[in-house]
Amino acid sequence: MSVLTTAPAGIGSLSDLAYQQCINPACRATFSVDQTQFACPRCGDLLDVVYDWDRLPVPRRLSEFEAKWSDRLDPLNFSGVWRFRELLPFAPREMIVTIGEGQTLLQTADKVGQYVGMAPGRLRLQYEGMNPSGSFKDNGMTAAFTHARMVKARRVACASTGNTSAALAVYCSATDLGFRAIIFIGSGRIAYGKLAQALDHGALTIQIVGDFDDAMHRVRQVADLLGIYLMNSINPFRLEGQKAVMYRVLEGLGWEPPDWIVVPGGNLGNSSAFGKAFIELKHLGLIDRIPRLAVINANGARTLEQLVGHHGLTWLNGLPDMGVARSYYDRLDLENLKASTIASAIEINRPVNLKKCLRALDFCDGVVRQVSDQEIMDAKARVGSGGLGCEPASAASVAGARKLREEGVIAPGDSVVCILTGHQLKDPTATVAYHGTDQENFEKVLGSRGVHRAGFANRPVMVANDLDDIIRTIALYSEAPPAAGSAS
Ligand code: F0G
Repeated sequence: MSVLTTAPAGIGSLSDLAYQQCINPACRATFSVDQTQFACPRCGDLLDVVYDWDRLPVPRRLSEFEAKWSDRLDPLNFSGVWRFRELLPFAPREMIVTIGEGQTLLQTADKVGQYVGMAPGRLRLQYEGMNPSGSFKDNGMTAAFTHARMVKARRVACASTGNTSAALAVYCSATDLGFRAIIFIGSGRIAYGKLAQALDHGALTIQIVGDFDDAMHRVRQVADLLGIYLMNSINPFRLEGQKAVMYRVLEGLGWEPPDWIVVPGGNLGNSSAFGKAFIELKHLGLIDRIPRLAVINANGARTLEQLVGHHGLTWLNGLPDMGVARSYYDRLDLENLKASTIASAIEINRPVNLKKCLRALDFCDGVVRQVSDQEIMDAKARVGSGGLGCEPASAASVAGARKLREEGVIAPGDSVVCILTGHQLKDPTATVAYHGTDQENFEKVLGSRGVHRAGFANRPVMVANDLDDIIRTIALYSEAPPAAGSAS
């Protein structure tokens, strides 16, 4: 995979161990890691962080990382990102910004596995909700803040469906390095848990009338004009950190790659980062088998699924026919089609990392599927009752795995890891609407999204403030099976 691993000729004054490189094979411009830009200044394409691996000290086996487990007092070994620092070696040690991210779990979840259609022990949930800000974003933020520190940035900004902004706000408040957070969100488009975080952690929170795609467009303009450091996943350093989610999955499996990684797709940063992680691990001889990647869109925000599944868009050695994407976007504009899903985290129609995701799908023999909001909410309830819980977007991975099982693409005995990207408490509105008894609220929050049943609801029980009534209720309900399905 020369795209990620070969140092270009004549790299000259660039730091020659790590540098930035345009992903477009017709351009391949290179830049020092000390430069700040979020698109190739020559051709406008995406940038990668690239390493000259031949001259870097990389472990010969992944198990060598286990040596770090015995030295957790070193914050870099404690971090679930930086204990793999040899695999993202762009920063001097003293520049690294860490708040203890990545203390996550790979949980075997047989009850959820049964729902998906897997044999016992074969479905695992990678629970990224345990990060300090409650989502996988902290993996990327630690790396992007490290780079921001290297280039002496102060004002840092992002557009967000909520989790990126929460993570950004947390990293500004939990570090004492003078960073100031500016976040752009689509008004009314962000779950309360996430908005609460942005506000509580003191971020300048700009709610613009519009959706994520509008906010993304604006933040890029503003960052350019005002020289503000951009923290969205278009920033290649963010994705370097997000590779660590895969390193921890491998660590949790005793360094044995699973058959499948299933991940929700929004702006496509995660899937892109996972692909890059596997490309590099394979190149370095640290894995011999590459997991297949399944990226799951919500059907109200299904750009990737449409472009790959129906318009034949593929990586084509770095020269995908982006005209296909442009006509798709033109049609969205013409028909005024906006992204719309209960999984607000992935309510995105113009994923900035589309091209890198195509590369990941190509390398990992990937597939893309869409799932309905009904499937997402049902899967979320199953994850809640049989796992650690998650927000709606995360449950898209489980709903997607179930779909792929039904299609026979995933076999019952495959080793499958679904990434639970965000914490259950991020979006209490969706959860309470699903489980609650308030029909009007159900219609408002879920019915309007095409969710018509709450087949796995665990209803709260109203009881008079009377001891006998309470005792009778406990007798009655504690004998019933939990989460008995009742139609809404
Ligand atoms: N799951 C959750 C919980 C998310 O917050 C996001 C993205 C995704 C999945 C999709 O990941 O963009 O890497 O494909 N949230 C972004 C945000 C867009 O602004 O918080 P992706």
